[in-house]
Amino acid sequence: NIYVVIMAGGSGTRFWPYSRDAKPKQFLDVLGTGRSLLQMTFDRFKEVTSNDKIWVVSNQKYENLIQDQLPELENHQILLETEKRNTAPCIAYAAYKIMKNDPNAVIIVSPSDHAIFKEKEFMEVINTATESASIEDKLITIGIRPNRPETGYGYIQYLSDPGVPVKKVKTFTEKPEVDLAAKFIESGDFLWNSGIFVWSIDAIINAFEKYEEEIASLFADGLSEYYTENESAFIKKAYSQCKNISIDYAIMEKAENVYVVPGDFGWSDLGSWNALHEIKKKDSNDNVIEGSVITYDSKDNYIKGKKNKVTVVQGVEGLLVADFDDVLLVCKKADSSLFRDFITDVKAEK
Ligand code: GDD
Ligand code: MG
Repeated sequence: NIYVVIMAGGSGTRFWPYSRDAKPKQFLDVLGTGRSLLQMTFDRFKEVTSNDKIWVVSNQKYENLIQDQLPELENHQILLETEKRNTAPCIAYAAYKIMKNDPNAVIIVSPSDHAIFKEKEFMEVINTATESASIEDKLITIGIRPNRPETGYGYIQYLSDPGVPVKKVKTFTEKPEVDLAAKFIESGDFLWNSGIFVWSIDAIINAFEKYEEEIASLFADGLSEYYTENESAFIKKAYSQCKNISIDYAIMEKAENVYVVPGDFGWSDLGSWNALHEIKKKDSNDNVIEGSVITYDSKDNYIKGKKNKVTVVQGVEGLLVADFDDVLLVCKKADSSLFRDFITDVKAEK
């Protein structure tokens, strides 16, 4: 009775102009495998449970994209949100809905937009976590050994307990300032939160009731096992009243029964062009080249040109050059802090 909930309602703004509101990054074939990140996530979890227990939660505007990309899913396995409210409401909706189907389920909650390169190691970690979550009321997250003071992640400090794979978490700090993140990295006893969570229905519903009663009360009564006509009205109302908060702030930072399974499975959250640059194949000057591109004396760039138009670059370093039909973006590859501004300002310009 393992259920998988794939969260696919994010907007992937730091991947603009590739990732767009109409088709955010989880629906794109970012790695060039012929499968979108959502499809790759689904493929990965097909090894963990049966197709009918893999559910996707996303915004209603992506319903058709999800149906097209994952024809294996029945309509009731696609939970549609009417507004963007971050991950806590998304997880609450799924938990209360799955509870109606199987109150003893263990749920794996996963982002839809990450890369995992070592599938075997990933499976082992998931098995360890699901086994443990089925026995005790634990909120388990999968932790990744960090290598830089990234401020976009959650940081997990845990009790080192040699030989015990599921470790008790001392502190969970979501998205710290860079100075604090640097201290965490220096101290050596922190992990990054991968954003993949494992818990039983009981554990997560207890946590919502204890720490986010407001959200719990919006979703607790009104859902049924099957999708009914009433559900869309119920969800519309719930989302219109629901606060906007991620599961990390809502529950993981506060709860006392948080545990972590450290994993090493070639994880990348593909959070930015820079992250993609890190994992993609590069030429001898560290450039990632896509499309028809000629470079001279240039290194460490991500050049995404077009097939039918030649891009020529000379003497540049550390840049992103991304050429799309309606926008050409040239910026520092490592700085994605202004992407929200880019999107707003381009909208105003058009
Ligand atoms: N259904 C739904 N609705 N999904 C959402 C929503 C929403 O409103 N908002 C985000 N998601 C999906 C995204 O598509 C993504 O797959 C996942 O939930 C996580 O959301 P992000 O917005 O990407 O979170 P983050 O990257 O800032 O932070 C989380 O992930 C980090 C690791 O990548 C946190 O859990 C951090 O602690 C963690 O380190
Ligand atoms: Mg993310």
